[in-house]
Amino acid sequence: MTEVRVAVLGASGWMGKVHTMAYQTFPHFFGESGGTARVVALVEANAEAAKALAFRAPGARIVGDWKEAVNDPDVDLIDICLPDNLHYEVAKAALLAGKHVYCEKPLADTAEQARELADIAREKGVITRVGHAFPRNPVHDLAKEIIDAGEIGDITLFKGCQHIDLYGDPLAPYMWRADGDLAPTGIVGDTGSHVFSFMEFLVGRVSRLIADNYITTDQRPVVDGVGYSGAVQLSGSEDMRPVTNPDGTNLLCEFANGARGIVDFSRTATGRKFVQTYEVYGTKGSLVYSYDEVNRIRFYSNDDQPGRRGFREIDVGTEHPTYAAFLPLPNFALGYNESKIIEVAEVIKSITTNQPMWPTFETGHHICQIVDACMASSKAKSWIDIA
Ligand SMILES: NC(=O)c1ccc[n+]([C@@H]2O[C@H](COP(=O)([O-])OP(=O)(O)OC[C@H]3O[C@@H](n4cnc5c(N)ncnc54)[C@H](O)[C@@H]3O)[C@@H](O)[C@H]2O)c1
Repeated sequence: MTEVRVAVLGASGWMGKVHTMAYQTFPHFFGESGGTARVVALVEANAEAAKALAFRAPGARIVGDWKEAVNDPDVDLIDICLPDNLHYEVAKAALLAGKHVYCEKPLADTAEQARELADIAREKGVITRVGHAFPRNPVHDLAKEIIDAGEIGDITLFKGCQHIDLYGDPLAPYMWRADGDLAPTGIVGDTGSHVFSFMEFLVGRVSRLIADNYITTDQRPVVDGVGYSGAVQLSGSEDMRPVTNPDGTNLLCEFANGARGIVDFSRTATGRKFVQTYEVYGTKGSLVYSYDEVNRIRFYSNDDQPGRRGFREIDVGTEHPTYAAFLPLPNFALGYNESKIIEVAEVIKSITTNQPMWPTFETGHHICQIVDACMASSKAKSWIDIA
């Protein structure tokens, strides 16, 4: 198969828009040798929003019911950009229908569900992918190369965080992300899973953790038609709806390789529009990254001459293949959307050539195990082992 026929589910949303763009864009950067994609169906339950979809993927059918796409023999890949609580049900139906499945994070509401999905995928022999796009920026391939080459020695400590200001204002409007039915693990599955994807990519499996989840504001105003934007004029007569999942989490963990971790994430960090950082300390050196300098890694090495030691700034550039695919000169910066284009190119290539890629539903399961452990640990107020 060289052309993969794709259905994007949740097509009007943020991820639906980015994924649809990426299928049409990736051959410009990666060529057609890894196959091409054609978006044949855009699935959107919001009929009003769906009316504006036609230009996004000319020729694609626009449908309201995801089951129609899952059962369509002319669809090869189901791409799930739906709210979290639908991932398991839709992914399972798609896998059982023999489709390849690319699902946004978190893969499922529980590790048990994620395990089941990974098992079905293996039995069906189909390709799976979870949408952890951040580690696919080439700067993290560089960080991993440095770690895997032993240049920072044995990892002793990972420190990571991700914070946003989605809900810093107590009157920022309610959206599905705050609903424990639609997003059962709240910030843990939503934002924590991004930090966990870096942990899994750079350090390895987490073996135990202790977490403290918290809700900062326990109810929020309901404002019709408002998604991510907090910039709305309140009338004062809005209904208030309870926030029923965590706004933030602080956690300590241990990795199977003996490294320790300190991690925090929240959606209530007033003024912090998007903070994402990690620091990886080893016995011979360390790596420091911040999304504010999204293509830069800071690398300290004990191998440097005494008196000359210090963090050197390495900007990912044309020496790194996925950077060179986009830009002929260094320091022009690759951002979030490029990470998604890389992700989509890898998904299509894996389907057309059967080459392995990362992260599949197996990794999605590991990450759901960490999410589950955070929820259980915070409830029990104790350390939780992860099998
Ligand atoms: N990888 C990342 O960096 C990243 C970033 C943002 C969101 N996400 C994940 O992507 C998923 C979607 O998030 P989003 O921010 O795009 O949400 P969103 O609210 O912008 O979009 C969701 C879309 O799904 C539609 N929808 C809801 N129920 C439906 C149904 N039953 N059938 C068809 N359409 C339906 C909605 O109308 C909406 O258009 C979530 O799981 C989220 O965690 C991942």
